[in-house]
Amino acid sequence: MDNIVVVRGTASNGIAEEISAILNVPMIGAEYHILADGESYVRIPEKVSGKIVILVQSTYPPQDKHLIELFLLMDAIKSYNPKKIILIVPYLAYLRQNKRFKEGEPISADIMLKMIKNAGADALVTIEPHRPESLVVFGGKSMIADPLPAYVAAVPKGLKKAVVLSPDNGGLQRAERFAKLLGTPFTSIDKERDKTTGKIYIKSESTFDFKNRDVIIIDDVISTGGTVAQAAKFVKSEGANKVLVIAAHLIMVGNCGKKIKNAGVSSITGLNTVPSKGTRVVDASRILTESIEGILRLNEY
Ligand code: R5P
Repeated sequence: MDNIVVVRGTASNGIAEEISAILNVPMIGAEYHILADGESYVRIPEKVSGKIVILVQSTYPPQDKHLIELFLLMDAIKSYNPKKIILIVPYLAYLRQNKRFKEGEPISADIMLKMIKNAGADALVTIEPHRPESLVVFGGKSMIADPLPAYVAAVPKGLKKAVVLSPDNGGLQRAERFAKLLGTPFTSIDKERDKTTGKIYIKSESTFDFKNRDVIIIDDVISTGGTVAQAAKFVKSEGANKVLVIAAHLIMVGNCGKKIKNAGVSSITGLNTVPSKGTRVVDASRILTESIEGILRLNEY
């Protein structure tokens, strides 16, 4: 481990410190300020030549700023000629646009992953990248840290007839895996988003009987809150008891929190991949470190 160093980027939200402590390796904080014209300045103040560098840089809002800073940090690290760079991006933005939903759109997920590869990352670790298969575009070694076991302790004890619900069919596997950990049934709702207005519609409603059940809605990202709010309203209208929400990345823009609360949700749990907006926060540092350890065990490291 004496050849390893953690670099804290400009958007780590405390995760770099934790990873450095768990691995028992030193941490260097990147120097950072905003120039008079709004551009970002970064500098790595200590040499990392010949070292395995673990760079921690999330890309929560302002996403574009944090992405640019990620690329600046990568170049600054590379200037020292490190042995390897393991890039930890707890929340990787733009991954939900993983196909051309409308003619003329970019595949943003592919662009992000190609840019990260081109920036010189040897390995990439992230959490809930919307569709795991998107990471193939990165080309190098990538690992997805699984947050589901870490959520279990955040689920309150004594729930009544609990059921895990994915607010759309795309998340059914996640709901199934989480339900297995909790020993509950699971189901999903068939949701559609209007591609122009962004409004969420429930296409065909679940035939599951939610009456008098406590419902745990699980998703990867909460952005506007429209998806989980619609799901919560639906299960409440079907007679559900308590409704809890768990999602990895709580972006939660504008009045999102109010929207979700008004839909009848009693608690929102999320990871610290984004500065906290939830009522319960689960630390992602340990699961990220486990993925890092998996990479460090590879022959070339
Ligand atoms: C969509 O497929 C995702 O899994 C999330 O459900 C979605 O991105 C959440 O967005 P919002 O909070 O804006 O509805």
